[in-house]
Amino acid sequence: MKMLKETYTLSNGIKIPKIGLGTWQVGNGDEAYNSVALALKNGYRHVDTAQGYQNEESVGRAIKDSNIPREDIFVTSKLDASIKDAQGAVKAIEASLEKLGYIDLFIIHAPWPWSAMGSDCKKGNVEVYKVMEEYYKKGVFKSIGVSNFNPDDIQNILDNCDITPHVNQIGYFIGLDQSKTIQFCNKHNIFIEAYSPLGIGYLLANQDIQNTAKKYGKTTAQICIRYLLQKEVAPLPKTTKEHRMIENSSVDFEISIEDMDFLDTIKGDPRKWE
Ligand code: A2P
Repeated sequence: MKMLKETYTLSNGIKIPKIGLGTWQVGNGDEAYNSVALALKNGYRHVDTAQGYQNEESVGRAIKDSNIPREDIFVTSKLDASIKDAQGAVKAIEASLEKLGYIDLFIIHAPWPWSAMGSDCKKGNVEVYKVMEEYYKKGVFKSIGVSNFNPDDIQNILDNCDITPHVNQIGYFIGLDQSKTIQFCNKHNIFIEAYSPLGIGYLLANQDIQNTAKKYGKTTAQICIRYLLQKEVAPLPKTTKEHRMIENSSVDFEISIEDMDFLDTIKGDPRKWE
């Protein structure tokens, strides 16, 4: 619980709770509504959704129904990765605001549509980011940023837009080498959020992490999440189950420097895409 009250501070002074609830692949309707409601009941104050998850309506409803003051729940959403034009961005942003009520952090979901990964959308990214800057300047968004952007994609924004992204949300977990992107972001004061902190669950089978967990009397998931906190990034573990929400946020312990070094020697990406 204690960790859920702790915050990081973004480059513009906005505070962001250290752990957020991920909602990728959580279906709109009861599943998303109940997940968010349970998380809020258990002290979570940071919820991460996206237009592409198609659950903003239920996420927004659970937030409203919680009656927790607006300023106490940090809400992130993302511009659908396929939208790379100003008109489309405005339309999608207005729809997200309608569903969620408000948005603290709004980020471009990916530098390219998922159907054309790696394609060059530099012009389109600048176009939609400029729209996001307008919403930020008006005070609608408290912070703006990007997701899945590599240094090149971010440099494009730095070269052509006014506001340095406050956040880059990337897939990051023990074993996944994100050092180039993280170094670049650190240099520009761009905060890192880590999605898939458990490698969408596959990392939990790792024997070395399991052994470390035993040593601390913690679960493997807790080691994965605590590791990222000690890297000073914000993990966004996804679960729909209350006991796991509690487990994933009960990470008020310290992994020793030696064990952090050991976890750093683990390499690889165990994720499987079904
Ligand atoms: P579930 O939603 O059924 O709990 P990631 O956050 O890396 O994307 O991982 C999400 C996956 O890991 C989901 O399949 C989720 O399943 C599972 N998961 C989340 N927390 C835990 C936990 N503490 N122990 C085991 N599995 C977990």
